[in-house]
Amino acid sequence: MAKHMQPLKALREIAFDYGVGEHPDLATMARELSRAILQHKTSLQHDLASLRTRGKGFERWLVAQRSKPAISVLVMAWPANYATPIHDHAGLWGLELALHGALEVESWDRDPHGNILRQVGRDWLGPGDASWFDADDRYAHRCRNLSRHETALTLHVYGGDLAQYLTYEEAGSTGQWLARPQLSTITGQLYA
Ligand SMILES: [Fe+2]
Repeated sequence: MAKHMQPLKALREIAFDYGVGEHPDLATMARELSRAILQHKTSLQHDLASLRTRGKGFERWLVAQRSKPAISVLVMAWPANYATPIHDHAGLWGLELALHGALEVESWDRDPHGNILRQVGRDWLGPGDASWFDADDRYAHRCRNLSRHETALTLHVYGGDLAQYLTYEEAGSTGQWLARPQLSTITGQLYA
């Protein structure tokens, strides 16, 4: 997948332009990304078509990374029905946006004392819709591809390299939660 993808380059440039400062304006970044995704809809679908038919499971593709100010841009492929565990983002700010298909995003709030989580919201993202979170140790979410048949594609922007994070799982009915460290894996690079 070595060819350069013009629409992805436009998305990367928007993410880099707005991804500055400790608390970037994620609402504006989302609006600009959404506008670009609708504008480049046909060529994005064409460029990313192979990611929807690989049949290799959940995959994370790196689009671009910058160290100062720190930012990473990824595309993820979600098999039909695929759901993540509840997970955090190592305190980084982040934005995710549906490129193809639809995603459900459950937002959770983690009480840092005792690792107790409670669900605080649920959103549905169709193509061009975004969900974002500020740099915060408390925010966690669980995402699911709503389609039973089709692979969904999403764009992700984080305020750094999300190499490690925690997943959360309720321990029986005790009201306690177990946090497990995880390492992110990158399938490959998409050249933007
Ligand atoms: Fe996430």
